[in-house]
Amino acid sequence: MPPSLQIDLAPTHKTGLLVANPVMPASGTFSWGIEFAKQWGVNALGAVVSKGITMESRQGNRQPRVAQTPSGMLNSIGLQNIGIDKVITEMAPLWEKWDVPVIANIAADTVDEFGEMARMLDGVPGIAALELNISCPNVDSGGLEIGQNIDASARATRAAVRNTDLPVIVKLTPNVTDPVKLAVACEEAGAAAICAINTVLGMAIDIRARQPVLPRARGGLSGPAIKPIALRIVYDVANAVHVPVIGCGGIATGEDAIEFLMAGASAVQVGTATFANPRAPLDILDGMCAWMEANRVDDIRELIGAARPQRG
Ligand SMILES: Cc1cc2nc3c(=O)[nH]c(=O)nc-3n(C[C@H](O)[C@H](O)[C@H](O)COP(=O)(O)O)c2cc1C
Repeated sequence: MPPSLQIDLAPTHKTGLLVANPVMPASGTFSWGIEFAKQWGVNALGAVVSKGITMESRQGNRQPRVAQTPSGMLNSIGLQNIGIDKVITEMAPLWEKWDVPVIANIAADTVDEFGEMARMLDGVPGIAALELNISCPNVDSGGLEIGQNIDASARATRAAVRNTDLPVIVKLTPNVTDPVKLAVACEEAGAAAICAINTVLGMAIDIRARQPVLPRARGGLSGPAIKPIALRIVYDVANAVHVPVIGCGGIATGEDAIEFLMAGASAVQVGTATFANPRAPLDILDGMCAWMEANRVDDIRELIGAARPQRG
């Protein structure tokens, strides 16, 4: 028998967020999922996560927006997207036809705007949950301004939770001294799950031009280079909160995904790996299943937190 992969990612929430398996794309690396749906089909995934949605449409930052780095990449996209109204009228009707739940990733300029966007997406057919991006390093307002502040992170979470019946996942930045405090504050504010991590602040310099490569100098580092950081944060956060943790950062193989589950993640998101291999989330899912079968693991829940110290 194939292993059981089903898991509820929002068990404390009234509707829950049941996924058929724990693998989903990471926001911003899968666009709206439409192209993937045409080529490979999305219904084999546990969930689809949309790119970051903002209240107004955005052009994003000046080019270049990406820079290659050892074992990773820097990006400074700046949340280019079509805006929430078009997502509701043009994307959600397509998502509604899929069997797989779609998680809308939202990025707001202010705490109140997170509440307003949550209200606008509440009850929209085709949207199963919200993921609050309080961790984008590439914008002037919202983003890290909120995500690096415990009080603002909790207020943004509360504002969203009060305005929607959808489960609210909060996506944390690693660019703080203690992500655990942020996670606990967001859980107390009503987060149904925590996603960790967004990109790690970094930069690259063009030594011939004597200038930073990216126009905003800093960018977000992703890919295998950040996997150990993400794994450590997932391990620490999962040990401190009682809601599910979704692990993200440098996952490129089925074994990577297993590591995150053992650290305490209940699901994983795959980002940068998709740029080298657009099928990466599916290949990672297959690799994970093959590992489970080879190691006689019948149920994904046997792995979640397996490498964590036992709680008393
Ligand atoms: C090009 C690019 C765009 C991204 N856009 C978003 C976004 O819109 N919202 C968000 O929450 N995270 C965004 N991220 C962060 C990813 O979702 C993910 O947290 C991060 O890249 C770490 O995972 P990875 O190493 O598997 O890529 C983006 C990352 C990349 C590389």
